Amino acid sequence: MFDDLKRSEEKIVMNRILLDIDEMPKNFVNILPYLKEPLPPPIDPVTNEPVSAEKLTAIFPVECVKQEVSMEKRIRIPDEVREALMRFGRPTPLQRAVGLEKFLKTPARIYYKREDVSPTGSHKLNTALTQTYYASKEGTKRLATETGAGQWGSAVALSCAHFDMQAMIYMVRISYEQKKYRGTLMRVYGADVVSSPSDRTKYGRQIKKENPDHPGTLGIAISEALEDTLSHEDTKYTLGSVLNHVLLHQSIIGQETMLQLQKVDETPDTIIGCVGGGSNFGGIIYPFIADGGYSDTEFIAVEPEACPSLNKGTYRYDFGDAAGLTPKLKMYTLGTDFIPPKIHAGGLRYHGVAPSISALVNEGRIKPVCYHQLEVLESGMQFARAEGIIPAPESAHAIKSVIDLALEAKRNNQERVIVFNLSGHGHFDMMAYESLMDGTLNGDTAVLEQKPTPTSISHLETA
Ligand SMILES: Cc1ncc(COP(=O)(O)O)c(C=O)c1O
Repeated sequence: MFDDLKRSEEKIVMNRILLDIDEMPKNFVNILPYLKEPLPPPIDPVTNEPVSAEKLTAIFPVECVKQEVSMEKRIRIPDEVREALMRFGRPTPLQRAVGLEKFLKTPARIYYKREDVSPTGSHKLNTALTQTYYASKEGTKRLATETGAGQWGSAVALSCAHFDMQAMIYMVRISYEQKKYRGTLMRVYGADVVSSPSDRTKYGRQIKKENPDHPGTLGIAISEALEDTLSHEDTKYTLGSVLNHVLLHQSIIGQETMLQLQKVDETPDTIIGCVGGGSNFGGIIYPFIADGGYSDTEFIAVEPEACPSLNKGTYRYDFGDAAGLTPKLKMYTLGTDFIPPKIHAGGLRYHGVAPSISALVNEGRIKPVCYHQLEVLESGMQFARAEGIIPAPESAHAIKSVIDLALEAKRNNQERVIVFNLSGHGHFDMMAYESLMDGTLNGDTAVLEQKPTPTSISHLETA
């Protein structure tokens, strides 16, 4: 069955390309020196000048602030962080989607990076462990953060348990209700978790008073976590996406992927990832851009039609949160007050996108696309049937794009190497798949004018 796999001696085990522990990256790859134009700096809304390092270090660990503006091409990964990453499952496998290829009858070769294998279920642990390590080394006792889908909160909760710190998590209300057991998971690791908007902060109380049914947004949860940080002496804030240092930490994904592809003599024609704030996508593509040898590789960023920041937003300075507590970032944005529809991919319900990803979209180096959640979850279900892995609804966005390209390759009878980041598993997202199967999936989107016609699940068996 695996005869058509490209083999490189003993390194390929069935359909998985594995790395040895000592092949795990020793450095993070920084994209900033590789951008065509210098990245527009974050702006302090009070002074309208680039924000000072002092203001940022009141919120973030000092090392993260240094990394945020660093122009070093490579930044060493501390030994303690490498050890923690290994303990929790790195390096992760790169897997050939043999089942999906067979089902689609495509000449394309499809590979996916298994970030779903982390104990918390996604790529988020890579930067959570790194940021928590820096904070603990600087003497911080407590971390405050927001979480949408719950993947980031789970990663921070485990990282705090690992480095002996307290985690305070503000979880967007709609996800808190849709994914009750994500909250439980975080509490098992010892975190304090509340539904946002919450009663813990002045801003949360104000939002709840204005609209008791508010479903919450990532922007509001960020504001709450920031208010919490600024009102507790021993607390630092940690962000799971968007900022340069977060994408920097995720570059281990792309470095491993590049080495794994080289082991089977493959060059990617296309690399695909879903985009919320941009960290898993930046993590997989940045080492390829920095390498310089992949100028023919196409990079596709996939968003939900319900929250299409790159596809339909404007490229301008905007706040990262809803209350206007963060510096202003130059990014593609739908506006801080945009309330995304209650789609199941909670991690993609964010109004903006990382400034570095935004700059590369603006340069034309990254192609953005977007899909409706109905077709996305159908693709996720197809992947589950073909590969056995239930993808997170966020990651299923990337899968939809992969399937479209693989079918195009079939129509054109064209060999194509398609690589995507399986950013997480969907074991806590059964409500999403359940509602797809029972026909009650909420198809609403705020931005989409024309909804695709719902297709019956049965077509999946005959694609
Ligand atoms: C599994 C998964 N994939 C993707 C994302 C989107 O975030 P980012 O764009 O930072 O990778 C999230 C966010 O919570 C997630 O949980």
